[in-house]
Amino acid sequence: MKTKFSIYVHIPFCESKCIYCDFASFVCAKEIKEKYFKALKNEINDFSKEGVVSSIYFGGGTPSCVNAKKITDILKLIKKKFVISENCEITIECNPNSASFFKLSAYRRAGFNRVSFGVQSLKNEALKFLGRAHTASQAIRAVLNAQKAGFKNISVDFLIGLQNQKIEDLTDEALTMINLNVSHISAYMLQVEERTPLYKMVKLNQIKLPKEDDVIGLYNDFSKFLKKHKFERYEISNFAKKNFYSKHNINYWKMGEYAGFGLSAHSFLDGYRISNSDNFADYFNGKNREKEFIDNKKRIEEIIMLGLRCKFGFSLLEIKNLGFDITKTPSYKNFLNNKIIKEKRGRVYLNQKYICVSNSIICELLP
Ligand SMILES: C[S@@+](CC[C@H](N)C(=O)[O-])C[C@H]1O[C@@H](n2cnc3c(N)ncnc32)[C@H](O)[C@@H]1O
Ligand code: SF4
Repeated sequence: MKTKFSIYVHIPFCESKCIYCDFASFVCAKEIKEKYFKALKNEINDFSKEGVVSSIYFGGGTPSCVNAKKITDILKLIKKKFVISENCEITIECNPNSASFFKLSAYRRAGFNRVSFGVQSLKNEALKFLGRAHTASQAIRAVLNAQKAGFKNISVDFLIGLQNQKIEDLTDEALTMINLNVSHISAYMLQVEERTPLYKMVKLNQIKLPKEDDVIGLYNDFSKFLKKHKFERYEISNFAKKNFYSKHNINYWKMGEYAGFGLSAHSFLDGYRISNSDNFADYFNGKNREKEFIDNKKRIEEIIMLGLRCKFGFSLLEIKNLGFDITKTPSYKNFLNNKIIKEKRGRVYLNQKYICVSNSIICELLP
C-alpha cells in the first residue's frame, strides 16, 4: 500500500501586517513574489517521495493577496506531480478583502474545495485596531461569494480576547456567520507575541487586554454557544458541523506525515521534522534547512500533547510500544482518579472541563 501524506504550501505575502501577527508573512515587492513562485515550483519539482496525497492546504500569509493564476498554477503542478486521493480536501486561506468572486471561482475551478476566511471580528473598530485590511461587510460578502463560486465547505476564524470584547459580541458575530451557513469555525485566543507591535502596546500600557481568566470565561461560553448551534469542538480552537472536520489539521494532530513547501514550511516525513528557513535569501538558496529526527521520547510527547488537545485522545498501546507505560505513573493515576482524564477502550481523553488548562495537565503527563 502506498504511504499517505498531506501537503502544505506557504504563501508568505500580505497586503499589510496585522499588529498581533508573528507568522512568516511580509509585505513584498512584485520581484520577490515572482522569484518566490519560481523557487516554490522548483522545490515541489525536486521532491522525491512517492505516495498518495490525502489533503492539501495553501496557508499564509495571505494566499488570496496574489494573482489567482499564481496559486492555481501551483495546485496544477501538485496535481500533475503527485497521486491525489479521490476525496482529497484542498483548502485555501483567504482574507476577505482580497477574495473576490473572480478569484474564488478560479480557485474552485482549479480544484480547491475548502476555503478558510480570516474574519477575526465583525466589529469595524476592532478590525481597524488589529490592522486588518478588511471590514465586516467585506467578510460577509466574501462568504457569499465563496458560496456563489461553489464552495460548500467554508471556515471562518475568530479571535477571542480582544479589547472590551463581550460574549454577546462573539456570539452575535458567530451567529451572523452560522446564518450564512458556514461549516467550520476556528476560535483562537489572542496571543501577545513578543516581536509584534501589540506586544509593545501592552508593555507600554497603551492598551488593556482582558485578563487570562476572563478570556477563558469567554472561550468557555463561546464553546457552549457553538455546541448549541451544532458546532462540535474537535480540537481546542476548532469547531465544526458534522462531516466538516478539517482533514488536513486532523492529520497533523494524529502525527500523520506531511510535506511542507515554501518559506518557513515544515515537513514530517520518514521520522524527520524538516523546517525551511524563514528568510527569503536562505530559502531561495536552499540554505539553513533544519532536519531533526523525532526519536521515541519526542514522539511520545507529541502524541500525548496533540491527542489531549483534540477529541481523538491518544492510544495507550501506541505509546507503550514506544517505551512509555504511562499507566504506571503517579500523575496519570491521580488525573484518572480525579476524572481529569478518562480512559476508554485503550484510549485516553481529556475531560473537556479542563481544556483551558490542558497545557499544565499535559506537562505533568509527559515522560
Ligand atoms: C496566520 S493567519 C493566515 C490567514 C490569513 N492571513 C488571516 O489572517 O486570516 C491564520 C490565523 O492565525 C491567526 N493568528 C495570527 N496571529 C495570531 C495571534 N497572535 N494570536 C491568535 N491568532 C493569531 C490569524 O488571525 C488567522 O486567523
Ligand atoms: S493577514 Fe494573516 S498572515 Fe497576514 S499579517 Fe494578518 S494575521 Fe498575519
